[in-house]
Amino acid sequence: MSANDRILVIGSAGQIGTELVTRLREIYKPHQVIASDIRAESTDLSGPYEKLNVLNATEVKEILQKHKITEVYLLAAMLSATGEKQPLAAWDLNMNGLFHILEAAREGQIQKLYWPSSIAVFGPTTPKINTPQLTITEPSTVYGISKLAGERWCEYYFNKYGTDVRSLRYPGLISWKSAPGGGTTDYAVHIFHEALKNGKYTCFLTENTRLPMMYMPDGIRATIDIMQASASRLSIRSSYNLAGISFTPAEIATEIKKHLPNFEISYAPDFRQAIAESWPESINDSLARNDWGWNHEYNLSKITTDMLQNLRAPK
Ligand code: SER
Repeated sequence: MSANDRILVIGSAGQIGTELVTRLREIYKPHQVIASDIRAESTDLSGPYEKLNVLNATEVKEILQKHKITEVYLLAAMLSATGEKQPLAAWDLNMNGLFHILEAAREGQIQKLYWPSSIAVFGPTTPKINTPQLTITEPSTVYGISKLAGERWCEYYFNKYGTDVRSLRYPGLISWKSAPGGGTTDYAVHIFHEALKNGKYTCFLTENTRLPMMYMPDGIRATIDIMQASASRLSIRSSYNLAGISFTPAEIATEIKKHLPNFEISYAPDFRQAIAESWPESINDSLARNDWGWNHEYNLSKITTDMLQNLRAPK
């Protein structure tokens, strides 16, 4: 990135956006990173902010022009659980938001785009263990369908127009700085808050539901690494498999009990159980590791210690 480059983060108030903006402003100059979200005002005053509805193509173009944006991180999306309640709205947001930015790239307004995909592109017919990059993708959620379609469009724009779009299939992301919104993996964040507040948690997944997960610092590092990688190292222009660790609700509860011996977990699975069961248990991300040197740092015990320590600290 040169001194004239400007980054726009769309969806900056969300779980990933909150931490990504902070990190980008540490790496680049704070004024080079423009945060944007649908809310009127930002709570983060460390740099420029724009209210932006990604579904409004005119508004998107205006903001890109106003700040002479060169790179976009498009994080505004509706996740798996919320998406099942509003399927058409999820499709609209997840697809048309992406089209507006892909078109801006095709027209030469921006040079580079980051767009997140998810383990939700996989479905009940996908091999569940060590799921490869190229495999059966028959997602059963509207979120997964939109992410799979988005991946196809990203690759299409890259092949057809040379659009420099980069993407990762995130596992469930665990964070303490910001709350997740409407995902199936959110239990792995809620559980820490409830453990500290009430000493117990009722999980909406069953005890042995194993899912791929990652600590947010690893997720942010992966995001910035793939954006900074030289284009010649990237063999995947749809979206890279990305893995950290995998665990079940029972295993995370056991880990929490090492710090809070009286912690109790109970189980009341709801509609999210079927979503979780349709996803892989573990992911093979050897292409990310080989192509651009990805390596995760946090295991379950490190995540647990760090989450509890930070959530306990006076704010
Ligand atoms: N964390 C997301 C969800 O549960 C998966 O990408 O919807």
